[in-house]
Amino acid sequence: MFHLGWFLYEAVQGWGSAEFDPNYGWADPHLHQDMAKRLEEACFDFILLEDLSAIPDTYGASREVYLREAIHAPKFDPAVMAGLMAAATSRIGIIPTLTTSFYPPFLLARQVQTLDLLTGGRVGWNVVTSSSERAALNFGMAGLPEHDERYDIADEYVRLCKRLWDSWEPGAVVADTASGVFADHTKVHEVDFSGAYYSVKGPLNVPPSPQGRPVLAQAGASPKGRRFAARHADIVLTPVNYPPAIKAFRDEIRRLAAEEGRDPEEVKVMAVAFPHICRDEAEAREVRAAMADMPANRVEAWVAQISAITGIDLAVYDLDEPLPAEVNTNGSRGTLDWLRSGGATIREMALRMARQTPDTPMVGTAAQVADEMAAVMEEVGGDGFLIAGPLTPAIVGRIVDDLVPVLQQRGQVRSRYAGTTLRSHLGEF
Ligand SMILES: Cc1cc2nc3c(=O)[nH]c(=O)nc-3n(C[C@H](O)[C@H](O)[C@H](O)COP(=O)(O)O)c2cc1C
Repeated sequence: MFHLGWFLYEAVQGWGSAEFDPNYGWADPHLHQDMAKRLEEACFDFILLEDLSAIPDTYGASREVYLREAIHAPKFDPAVMAGLMAAATSRIGIIPTLTTSFYPPFLLARQVQTLDLLTGGRVGWNVVTSSSERAALNFGMAGLPEHDERYDIADEYVRLCKRLWDSWEPGAVVADTASGVFADHTKVHEVDFSGAYYSVKGPLNVPPSPQGRPVLAQAGASPKGRRFAARHADIVLTPVNYPPAIKAFRDEIRRLAAEEGRDPEEVKVMAVAFPHICRDEAEAREVRAAMADMPANRVEAWVAQISAITGIDLAVYDLDEPLPAEVNTNGSRGTLDWLRSGGATIREMALRMARQTPDTPMVGTAAQVADEMAAVMEEVGGDGFLIAGPLTPAIVGRIVDDLVPVLQQRGQVRSRYAGTTLRSHLGEF
């Protein structure tokens, strides 16, 4: 069996595509809540909400394309959205992305612990170090710390959060009305953390949820990022979608996790996928043809998206040439390496980012896509997929109503939740 998560790119859902649903206002939380319920009906493990704390202006040194195409703008606060989606659901996991580069650790640990406790243990944290210089300027910083140092800071940050989450021993909450004792003060401890970057006294002022600590997700792709992910994460996300590359990534994360003294089975590697479920083979052919012929404004939008996460103004380069080899990033390094690999032109990088390359699998009928997913998992060795796509009724409907029932009939994904916490969903198989 394998796990399913949904990757929620937080902007105007479906904007710029035929899937945009005008029946929901773009600022209406019911869209997010209704779609979360639908994914819960399909027994998804979790929904992960991505984030970027700025309106980018990298591409063409302007905010124009980002605002016109609704790329990273508007972007609702993921912790707030997580609360709204959690309130509408009872089993599915909810994982907001929050950054170690800008938020004070006590604030973040408390926010995530609050969500986790109030959902009965269904919350995670997608740990990012951020890749946007523009975002750093929004938090009073002169710029982002250097790429590898961001991971050193994040390492200390996560160790500190774990100490805060553990500052209440199990059984600290007594809640005994007869004796009048709510919490046993001998079981709540200061953390007295003093590191190279942070010092926090503690204890946290929120007790833990039934799953102990919140689940941690991470998507480091550089050598330093992979080591960090293998050390801390319960879920590791990878953008690569070519099966041998997913397998190599997963094998390495498992090897690094073992080196860190962890059981590799505890770490789930999830590959991003965007399945297009079609009525029949004729429609699948049409979808494949349309993919190869992306309209110019969508190409520009995807190139601008790459500019936003790498900090490179790609508007100054020829669309049909590869990015010059000497151009590199202090932002998402591993993602850039993947996008430009094999000498891809900037246009091809955009198609890759949109998962619309001719070799992209997963365009077909539900049965065909289910076959492909099973074959990928067979080759990779397991864990699951992070399905990416606008959260619209049409797109979610095709996954939930067409694809998932086929996967369930074949016993490849769960048909009901065995447990109630996100950690229990991940540990189920
Ligand atoms: C599926 C996926 C989701 C991601 N979500 C976010 C996000 O929401 N916010 C963010 O700043 N970075 C996000 N990233 C970027 C990663 O945090 C990380 O910066 C990137 O994978 C590059 O890592 P590296 O610098 O170690 O190569 C995501 C990456 C992937 C693959």
